[in-house]
Amino acid sequence: MKVGVIGCGYVGLVTGACLAEMGHRVICVDNDSVKIGLLKKGKEPFFEAGLPAMLKKARQKGSIVFTGDIPRMTRESEVIFICVGTPPRADGSADLSAVENVARQVARNLAHYTLIVEKSTVPAATGERLAGVVKIENQRAVPFDIASNPEFLREGTAVHDFFHPDRIVIGVESKRAETILRELYKTIKAPLIATDIKSAELIKHASNSFLAAKIAYANALSRICDLIGADVGQVTKGVGMDKRIGRDFLNPGLVGGFCLPKDIEAFYHISKKNGYDFKFLEAVKEINESQKDHVIAKLEEELWNLEGKTIAILGLSFKPGTDDLRFAPSLDIIAKLINKGVTIRAYDPVSMQKAKKLLDGKKILFAGDPYACVRRVQAAVLLTEWEEFGKLDFSKVKKAMDLPVLVDVRNYWDAQKLKDMGFRYRGMGRS
Ligand SMILES: NC(=O)c1ccc[n+]([C@@H]2O[C@H](COP(=O)([O-])OP(=O)(O)OC[C@H]3O[C@@H](n4cnc5c(N)ncnc54)[C@H](O)[C@@H]3O)[C@@H](O)[C@H]2O)c1
Repeated sequence: MKVGVIGCGYVGLVTGACLAEMGHRVICVDNDSVKIGLLKKGKEPFFEAGLPAMLKKARQKGSIVFTGDIPRMTRESEVIFICVGTPPRADGSADLSAVENVARQVARNLAHYTLIVEKSTVPAATGERLAGVVKIENQRAVPFDIASNPEFLREGTAVHDFFHPDRIVIGVESKRAETILRELYKTIKAPLIATDIKSAELIKHASNSFLAAKIAYANALSRICDLIGADVGQVTKGVGMDKRIGRDFLNPGLVGGFCLPKDIEAFYHISKKNGYDFKFLEAVKEINESQKDHVIAKLEEELWNLEGKTIAILGLSFKPGTDDLRFAPSLDIIAKLINKGVTIRAYDPVSMQKAKKLLDGKKILFAGDPYACVRRVQAAVLLTEWEEFGKLDFSKVKKAMDLPVLVDVRNYWDAQKLKDMGFRYRGMGRS
């Protein structure tokens, strides 16, 4: 099929590359000329494992092209995926101006029946709005359909997730739209659920909020474990073995990235706007947010006054496998520590360049490797569980540090081994 993708970000570029890999002909559009310039030169604008090889193959086959030209893409596509950003506004609602903007441009240039698919995460009833906008701008009354096809891929494993989803959700309101999307995805072996558009939109917000709730539950458990001296890993294992509950995502942790924090906010906001005060989501948000202060509290328990101390931050991106720093918990934790007079030394295997730009002007030293990062520090905090941090030579780490204090926010390291080596190890809900 001839597919257009608007937005060459984490979702759009992965979607475009994977659809090209599946044999479709893909035109990717972005209004960021720097991004398009890089992509035309065969470079990627961000790090995502597995993506460069697939893009290289698609470029060589000529099955993917990059342009800033929405009219051309519209004329040449049978299906168009809208994958632009839907960032949070100050009040927590989703900013849908980019979605509206591109929909207008597509509508003005429709030349034949086109299926316009919202893949960006949008609040329920956005499809209705989209249809309205397209109808107004589509002055030649070219036939079209709107569909919703929420994306569930996770950065860091996005390519794998695209080809192996737990389910494909399509929200459709015509047989024609359903047939096109079923055909498009027919080689992916996953259950496909076809719903109305509003339900499909709701599935995405409801899923992400539930995931955030599972983390919040585990975070709350970790706090209780810290207070009474139990081990949250053992507790969640025992709880998660109940099939009705499930083990996945039942881990304490810091919630970050471009999806969970903003989607839960947007879901809360849209629920309230429609007359339901979804207080449960407020509690989830509050528990997850307070986990950051809990990290600071652990450092204070170990180091007493933080002012004047130097602390190493291992890992900056919100999760391993990506260089994405949007809503990364590291940013908040670093800001909180700097406010307390701490000097930060940071290291991340892939997001250093982005971090240097983003944190420019803040009092942060960047280290070239993990050992340089922990040199002469009074504590090291593991914020992202990069594989590299699992393979550290801890005797070298201990020698390099002023005080052997490790705060393992991801419960990633072997606590007993580190304690035996003489570290003052603090996990979350396991010490
Ligand atoms: N990142 C994820 O893991 C993920 C997962 C599932 C769903 N989503 C959702 O997918 C959407 C996109 O997320 P993302 O992470 O890819 O965002 P992103 O910021 O990485 O990418 C968005 C792209 O859209 C482009 N863009 C914005 N306005 C445009 C316009 N008017 N014309 C053309 N291009 C335009 C931007 O330049 C950017 O390249 C969001 O709604 C997000 O919530 C993201």
